[in-house]
Amino acid sequence: MSTGAISRAQIGAGGAGAPVSHRPLGILAALPQELGDLIEAMRAESGVRTITHGQRDYHVGTVHGAPCVVTLARVGKVAAAATVSALIHAFDVDAVVFTGVAGGVGSEVRVGDIVVANALMQHDLDASPLFPRFEVPLLGVSRFTADGALADQLAAACERFVAEEGAASAARFGTREPRVHRGLIISGDQFVASATGVEALRDALPDALAVEMEGAAIAQVCYEYGVPCAVVRTISDTADDHAPQSFVSFLTEIAGTYSNAILKRFLEARRVA
Ligand code: ADE
Repeated sequence: MSTGAISRAQIGAGGAGAPVSHRPLGILAALPQELGDLIEAMRAESGVRTITHGQRDYHVGTVHGAPCVVTLARVGKVAAAATVSALIHAFDVDAVVFTGVAGGVGSEVRVGDIVVANALMQHDLDASPLFPRFEVPLLGVSRFTADGALADQLAAACERFVAEEGAASAARFGTREPRVHRGLIISGDQFVASATGVEALRDALPDALAVEMEGAAIAQVCYEYGVPCAVVRTISDTADDHAPQSFVSFLTEIAGTYSNAILKRFLEARRVA
C-alpha cells in the first residue's frame, strides 16, 4: 500500500495476544543498528505483521509485552516528520519513542553516556529577522517538551540498565561507565563533525547536551497532534573532528546492545504499569 489510511484489520489491532482496544506505542530509530534486535524480538514473541507505507516498513506486533509499531525513520528531519506522521495517522499510536545515537555537546557528556530529552529544538532553524532564531514560524515555539511521564519511564529504564549492566558494558566496549543525563537535545540536518561546529552549537545553545538529526522534528509533529513523545540517545561521538570514525564504530559495535537493553526494560515496565 502506498497511500491512504491503514485499516485496524491490517494493523492487527495491536498484534497477537494484545487486547483489541490497546493502541500501540510507536517506536522508531533512524538506522537499523539503532533498533538493535527489536523486530526479531517481536517476531519471536507475537509474530510480525509488516505493512509498507510511504516507502517504509512498519512492523506491527507485541514486544516485551507491549503492543508496538516499530519502524525506521531514516536520516534527517523531513524523514523523521513524515514517518512519525504516518505512525500517528495510519497506525493510531498512542505515544512515540525515538531511540538512537547522538553527538555529545554538553561538557559532561561523553561517548557511551545516555541522554534522555526533556526538551528538543531545531538548531538549524533560523527565519530571523522575521521570527526569533530557532522559533518555528507561526507556531511560536522553539523548544518542544518531551512527555514528562514517558521521559521519566525511559530515564528509569536507562538507570536500571546502567546499574545492572553499565560496568560490564563499559569493560566490553572500552568506554567509561555510562551516565544518564536529562536535558536539551538539538536536531538539525547536518552531521556535526568539527571542533568549530560543535563549539558554535555550544555558544548558541549553552544548555544543549546532545546533537542529532531527527528528534526535534518528531517532537514538533507530536506536539502539533497532541501525541506524547520521548527521545533517548546514546552518545556515539562528541561531534568534533573524530566524530565520523567514532560514530561508525559505535553504531556498528555498541548501539544495538544499548538500545536492546534500554527498550527491554522500558517496555517490560510499561506492561506492569
Ligand atoms: N548523530 C550521532 N552523532 C551525530 C553528530 N555528530 N551530528 C549529528 N547527528 C549525530
